[in-house]
Amino acid sequence: MYNEMDLDKIDINAEPPTEEPARQYYFMAKCREWVREFEKKNGRRPTACTQTFGCQMNARDSEKLSGILSLCGFAETTEEEADFVIYNTCTVRENANSRVYGRLGYLHNLKKKNPDMRIALCGCMMQEPAVVEKLKKSYRFVNLVFGTHNIYKFAELLVQSFETDHMVVDVWDRAEQIVEELPVERKYPFKSGVNIMFGCNNFCSYCIVPYVRGREKSREPKDILREIERLSKDGVVEIMLLGQNVNSYGKTFEPPVTFAQLLQEVEKIDGIERIRFMTSHPKDLSEELITVMAHSKKICRHLHLPLQSGSTRILQAMNRHYSKEMYLELVEKVRNAMPDIAITTDIIVGFPGETEEDFLETMEVVERVGFDSAFTFIYSRRRGTPAADMQEQVPEEIVKDRFDRLLKKVQEIAAQKSEKLTGSVQKVLVESINDHDTSLVTGKMDNNSTVHLPGDARLIGRMVMVRLEECRGFYYYGKLAESR
Ligand code: 5AD
Ligand code: SF4
Repeated sequence: MYNEMDLDKIDINAEPPTEEPARQYYFMAKCREWVREFEKKNGRRPTACTQTFGCQMNARDSEKLSGILSLCGFAETTEEEADFVIYNTCTVRENANSRVYGRLGYLHNLKKKNPDMRIALCGCMMQEPAVVEKLKKSYRFVNLVFGTHNIYKFAELLVQSFETDHMVVDVWDRAEQIVEELPVERKYPFKSGVNIMFGCNNFCSYCIVPYVRGREKSREPKDILREIERLSKDGVVEIMLLGQNVNSYGKTFEPPVTFAQLLQEVEKIDGIERIRFMTSHPKDLSEELITVMAHSKKICRHLHLPLQSGSTRILQAMNRHYSKEMYLELVEKVRNAMPDIAITTDIIVGFPGETEEDFLETMEVVERVGFDSAFTFIYSRRRGTPAADMQEQVPEEIVKDRFDRLLKKVQEIAAQKSEKLTGSVQKVLVESINDHDTSLVTGKMDNNSTVHLPGDARLIGRMVMVRLEECRGFYYYGKLAESR
């Protein structure tokens, strides 16, 4: 594996290579020198803390940051009282930004106590010019700022920032290339995310993602398959294929490759027992995909299908390219092919111009579909998106009231749905010791529901059969039925 690459063989006195990823390994070797100097001076390795905000894509990116830091010799820690702290930020809603500014205040205090501490910021929020301006003006104690398109250059930027006391800022407005074969340090040994595409071309009118993550770019199938084969050899049994809109995977290849075709290839890889994917856009979900899912032994019976709104008028204003009826038909098709599938969704309330009637249509769709669970969001006005300039922003109290009503309905329905599985035996991948009760372990079912059961660390990473004994709304308590 590249994680084990011998950095000491790299001549750091030579000129840096121009080719990637060799260039980055050169800088990792340089960074390792810096780490050794630190060790000599302080009698211990420097510590590094990577904090992730936001989605699964960011979580995967953070594993890449951690891979580089650990190959360079940093000791990873979850404590922010570290020698190096990096925040991988999100900007999808305004409160994500506010959290980062709040936490930066706390880091500033830590840095006052430890002036050698170094702070870096990366991720989606850094792609917003106004954010970078604010950091330059009011957060001078930050050492390094970079964006989503040059994350592969982390090692190089790290070395650059070690060589100066000034803030190093490197944010690109588009992706130049996808760099393969960089180190990764996975959070879980038995499951992993796998990027299949980057960026988004949909420009939903409320969403900042296309501006901060750039245009859609698919990874080559051979690179994806090779990565999954390696993960499988390394003990991974569950993978999550990641993209903002996985259903439009491979459209730009010549000849095109469909997402369903990719899934069929992934299915053939020995050792992988579960395949998940995220996120599907309803407008691009094909019959081919439904058929492939229905015939698959490995693809989980779970579909995350963001609805956003149940009103066709609002969906149009959101630039979603489907109507309420199209969404309902799609759900019916999926359920006809896979009656036991769990369908989950994202819903936004308070989009500009949303009337009580529009909102009631969302409530109606929620009821008719019967989502197994739903993430509900209050519309957040994102600068630079078309919706931010729309008239008729909905007053806060009205949005709050609708949000509460929606959440209540979503929870009621999810609880009814979950209750139906009580008493059944389900396959569960055990992921961790329970956070609150160490006599229990916590795992996930095929349909993504959480189960707690008696057990210890030996069960972690194992696929076991569990009888669901009690349903507590959106999670279960169970007992081992038999193990495999
Ligand atoms: N305001 C509220 N929610 C948003 N989302 C994306 N942009 C916004 C916004 N401006 C939600 C969508 C998307 C999920 C990841 O975040 O529901 O599916
Ligand atoms: Fe945002 Fe729409 Fe792209 Fe999802 S599909 S990332 S909601 S623009």
